[in-house]
Amino acid sequence: MPGKRIAVIGAGISGLGAIKICLEEGLEPICFEGSNDIGGLWRYEEKTESGRPTVYKSTICNTSKEMTAYSDYPFPDHFPNYLHNSKIIEYLQMYAKHFHLLKHIQFLSKVCSVRKRSDFSCTGQWDVVVQTEGKQESYVFDGIMVCSGLYTDPLLPLQDFPGITSFKGQCIHSWEYKSPEKFQGKKIVVIGIGNSGVDVASELSHMAAQVFLSTRRGAWIWNRVWDYGMPIDTVLFTRFNAILNKVYPTFLINSLIEKKLNARFNHDTYGLLPQHRFLSHQATFSDDLPNHIITGRVMIKPNVRKFTKTSAIFEDGTEEDVDVVVFATGYTFSFPFLENNSTVLDSQCSMFKFVFPPQLEKPTLAFIGILQPVGAIMPVSELQSRWAARVFKGLNKLPSVSGMMADIEKKRKKFAKEYRNNSRDTRRVQYVDYMDEIASEIGVKPNLFSFFLWDPKLALEIFFGPCTPYQYRLQGPGKWAGARRTILTQRERIIKPLKTRTLTLVQPLNSVPFWLKSFCAALLLFVLTLVIIKA
Ligand SMILES: Cc1cc2nc3c(=O)[nH]c(=O)nc-3n(C[C@H](O)[C@H](O)[C@H](O)COP(=O)(O)OP(=O)(O)OC[C@H]3O[C@@H](n4cnc5c(N)ncnc54)[C@H](O)[C@@H]3O)c2cc1C
Ligand SMILES: *[C@@H]1O[C@H](CO)[C@@H](O)[C@H](O)[C@H]1NC(C)=O
Ligand SMILES: *[C@@H]1O[C@H](CO)[C@@H](O)[C@H](O)[C@H]1NC(C)=O
Ligand SMILES: *[C@@H]1O[C@H](CO)[C@@H](O)[C@H](O)[C@H]1NC(C)=O
Ligand SMILES: *[C@@H]1O[C@H](CO)[C@@H](O)[C@H](O)[C@H]1NC(C)=O
Repeated sequence: MPGKRIAVIGAGISGLGAIKICLEEGLEPICFEGSNDIGGLWRYEEKTESGRPTVYKSTICNTSKEMTAYSDYPFPDHFPNYLHNSKIIEYLQMYAKHFHLLKHIQFLSKVCSVRKRSDFSCTGQWDVVVQTEGKQESYVFDGIMVCSGLYTDPLLPLQDFPGITSFKGQCIHSWEYKSPEKFQGKKIVVIGIGNSGVDVASELSHMAAQVFLSTRRGAWIWNRVWDYGMPIDTVLFTRFNAILNKVYPTFLINSLIEKKLNARFNHDTYGLLPQHRFLSHQATFSDDLPNHIITGRVMIKPNVRKFTKTSAIFEDGTEEDVDVVVFATGYTFSFPFLENNSTVLDSQCSMFKFVFPPQLEKPTLAFIGILQPVGAIMPVSELQSRWAARVFKGLNKLPSVSGMMADIEKKRKKFAKEYRNNSRDTRRVQYVDYMDEIASEIGVKPNLFSFFLWDPKLALEIFFGPCTPYQYRLQGPGKWAGARRTILTQRERIIKPLKTRTLTLVQPLNSVPFWLKSFCAALLLFVLTLVIIKA
């Protein structure tokens, strides 16, 4: 029997993982990619095209390489821990080549519509219309993996900013921002304190005359470089911490983390203190914002009340002349090729574990990577694909519609309780918890108990070490023989690109020669005696 034919929509991080998983599971994927190359968001281009996600020239990953890798393909050990976008692309190209993915991708092919076939309720098949170089072609597929990404349509809430239409300067969205050169000497206000806003403000401040960073609610700022210089996600995202998170009361975790972040720089003093607690809203990554604030290059401001022709008037009544406004106000996304796009869109909570729409007669439509893990997306979307592939093949069953709805309702309540009422946050998941939840569906969650009995060395690293994606390849379907070794060598791969100057010291640093010690002791005694005699 030939494998089922699966349409993968998009060849970004999620789409490439999906193709690989389909091949691994003996399915027949065809991937349609609207642009002319792989990489999606991570492929930097000079020009922004509408409908295409992009990064700016200097974008660096905010998740570290060991936590960001596909589960059976670690980053090369000499790659830095936090990767520039060009390195991510290099990795994706290596991945695509290694697993022979390219021949399954049709570039410059935009999926225009995905519709149920008339006999859908028994076959679960879809009619897919694809536009390639002006020509439309129809295909029939047994399953669909939607990997079209979350960051396509910039959100410009102009209606919230009175006077913006009469503002004479330049207005851009962070999506259009590429590099700082042409902003030399300008006065710039950046609106929004998410990751993009802070990155753009920090970078612009090297060139601009002055940068104002305007925020309604402030933010907790955390940094990539954590204690002892380790990547923050490798320190915080461990199974041990995931358990602590469950047993410690939330207020205690909040105050511990907030205390730590305030020890780096006081969020109140720096004008950043938010009204929300750390855990109830996404924190912003920035290693250098405090440096720019303390040098005055970036000035934190409240929300803009209104714009005049040449200036911004902030809610505290201050007015500043500005030449450029950068809206770092986030993105929306849509699936224009799907019917019922609005019901799917209303809120991601209406999807079973963010992957399966619960109302379909047959579970042959899966959404991959349409969520916001607090952590890297690559391993998450890859695991979602593994689950989807097994559901498509009938090896895993989904619960009944009411069972799925009950789960969705439960999650919705939990979100409402834990997070602020922010539509973006409804798609937020904790990395370890979500990975384990999906892994349990397919039986690839590492069984710690048996590892403690049979392989304590590995068990300790799994439990106390970073919860790296390789853990989900240790057992169950899709098991990878290299997983154990890759886990046990992960710390070496973190250190290697850092320690590029190895000390060839023969004697340990603290071995001060004996004569020097004696001399110092004698000197000390002498000085002390003098002091005592004087007194
Ligand atoms: C500035 C920025 C920084 C980020 N940093 C990180 C980070 O450090 N770590 C992290 O884990 N995540 C980060 N993210 C999240 C990011 O979404 C993911 O890293 C990742 O790019 C998601 O990949 P994807 O494949 O799901 O989507 P995308 O990269 O958006 O790819 C989607 C692909 O689908 C194609 N497509 C869309 N519609 C169609 C259609 N109808 N027909 C054919 N093709 C179509 C697009 O052309 C595109 O190639 C960041 C996001 C932004 C905006
Ligand atoms: C939703 O799908 C319909 C066709 O089914 C289409 O006409 C409409 O433009 C879509 N809406 C959005 C927001 O994409
Ligand atoms: C669209 O909505 C109708 C009615 O709610 C439903 O029967 C159908 O399955 C939905 N289609 C998809 C693709 O979700
Ligand atoms: C990394 O940055 C992206 C884009 O701003 C954001 O969506 C994601 O949540 C960030 N990751 C973490 C772990 O905060
Ligand atoms: C939170 O969201 C719900 C539904 O989306 C809405 O009814 C409610 O008013 C919101 N609450 C606040 C405080 O914004």
